[in-house]
Amino acid sequence: MTTIVIDNETCTRCGICSEVCPMGIIVPGNEAKPPEVPRQAEAFCIRCGHCAVGCPEQAVSIEFLREREIPVPEGFPPSPDLVAYYLKKRRSVRHYTKKPVPRDTIRDILEIARYAPSGGNQQPVHWTVIYDPHDVHHLAGLTIDWIRHDAASDNPSLPRIMTGRLISSWEKGADPVCRGAPHLLIAAVRAGPGSAAVDGIIAVTYADVAAPAFGVGTCWAGFLSLAVKAWPPVGEALAIPDGYEYCASLMCGYPKFRTYGIPPRNPLKVTWR
Ligand SMILES: Cc1cc2nc3c(=O)[nH]c(=O)nc-3n(C[C@H](O)[C@H](O)[C@H](O)COP(=O)(O)O)c2cc1C
Repeated sequence: MTTIVIDNETCTRCGICSEVCPMGIIVPGNEAKPPEVPRQAEAFCIRCGHCAVGCPEQAVSIEFLREREIPVPEGFPPSPDLVAYYLKKRRSVRHYTKKPVPRDTIRDILEIARYAPSGGNQQPVHWTVIYDPHDVHHLAGLTIDWIRHDAASDNPSLPRIMTGRLISSWEKGADPVCRGAPHLLIAAVRAGPGSAAVDGIIAVTYADVAAPAFGVGTCWAGFLSLAVKAWPPVGEALAIPDGYEYCASLMCGYPKFRTYGIPPRNPLKVTWR
């Protein structure tokens, strides 16, 4: 159960907490009493914390999942130019050094992904980190097994021209599935109806976007994702926790090469109405 406490002394009755609550469960206050959440409405709280962070007087406290306050870093907010450059500069990394990424760094990246938006603030993501490069390579090999099986089937799901290249690259000792990344970050989401699959993709995107700030490179492991669904040994090797479903994976490691400049992209397509 959620408890939202509004301090009678510091609350100025500005009504912002009530206005910003996405569930509309905070009854505005008046001269005599501060805003309040009726007991029967508490169950509708999605624990987003907007009431607390929206209060100019910090009169609202939320009694769930208390976390250390995050200090405002120097340079915040970044300029639009800085945000644009950072986001446009992110690239998929397909060549990695063997140097392991410290677990603390991976944890820091996933901590950021914890703040990704999710439908109804459900936060349905569970991460599995495949930390040992041998295990990553093993998963790549299982994916190649599926690709071989797919290529030999009457109704292949991947174009044969592509599977042929993937298989021959693997046979020459390269890893076209996980690109030799030392680690894999696997997102699973709580099974069931709702927006969990989308929420998982957004969380993976957050991790993908956060990683370069730590000097870490990532790339979505699309072939692995296809194999998870089509080839049971891959799913079994991932050992997603009970009650969760595989969502997506990121290769992860230190980039072997740096990039110079930003490559072009298609022009913006937008309709204004
Ligand atoms: C869902 C998804 C799956 C992807 N799968 C792979 C993959 O299996 N192997 C790979 O090398 N790149 C993969 N990529 C990376 C894309 O090829 C890459 O994002 C695209 O070429 C644009 O390059 P950029 O990310 O550097 O901007 C994937 C990207 C996405 C979003």
